[in-house]
Amino acid sequence: MKIDSHKYPLPKRLRHHTSANVYAAADSLFRIPDYYPPLLQSLDWNECFENGNEPCAIDVGCGKAKFLFDYAEQNRERNYLGIEVRKPLVDWASNVIKSEKIPNASVLWYSVANGFPFIEDDSISEIFYLFPDPWPKAKHLKRRVMNIHFLNELFRILKNEGKIYIATDLEEIHQYHIEILTEFEKFHFHLASQDEWRLPITNKEMFCLEKKIETYKIIAGKK
Ligand SMILES: C[S@@+](CC[C@H](N)C(=O)[O-])C[C@H]1O[C@@H](n2cnc3c(N)ncnc32)[C@H](O)[C@@H]1O
Repeated sequence: MKIDSHKYPLPKRLRHHTSANVYAAADSLFRIPDYYPPLLQSLDWNECFENGNEPCAIDVGCGKAKFLFDYAEQNRERNYLGIEVRKPLVDWASNVIKSEKIPNASVLWYSVANGFPFIEDDSISEIFYLFPDPWPKAKHLKRRVMNIHFLNELFRILKNEGKIYIATDLEEIHQYHIEILTEFEKFHFHLASQDEWRLPITNKEMFCLEKKIETYKIIAGKK
């Protein structure tokens, strides 16, 4: 049964992007502003999941979290962690999780520009990087989540047999993903067919489907 999050009104005046600084790693800023998401170093999983176990999957930039809700609902025995930088959405999604009683899903207010210090090495089976903020302009390159530092963190936390799922609706960004994965060298990757993907749809993917916008998908894993 899918979660009907439409029952829960979204925060008013939800902005597409929040302040530019939150997309930068805190250690690259001259001063950390008050509105910067907490710099988490460790987490008590009892506060995130009913069974107190660590997550087995991470949804980076989960947004309105349709994918997270549906995937967690389908696989109740596994814990799913969403990470999102926009605080109003985190509060909203946390309320849906509580009200719909999804004990194995949790959403963190955090900027992944700071890596995943609260996640153990070789512990994650699936990482989702689905329709991240594109920042297509060259001058905004430093705001993109996907860079070599981020890939190093993904490599550290991913299990040997784990998978990374990457999707975008912009061909330019898709090419960037291919280039950076090639440069990184430690992951094998291939373009994924719809048949192979077999995952619940995300909010952004649904939008693309309705508007007939092409999407590009990659599945990666450790070499
Ligand atoms: C285009 S939305 C896609 C949301 C969802 N994955 C989907 O497919 O519907 C990208 C999301 O990534 C979040 N995001 C961007 N940079 C982030 C960062 N550094 N840390 C955490 N979340 C981030 C944005 O706030 C936004 O909600």
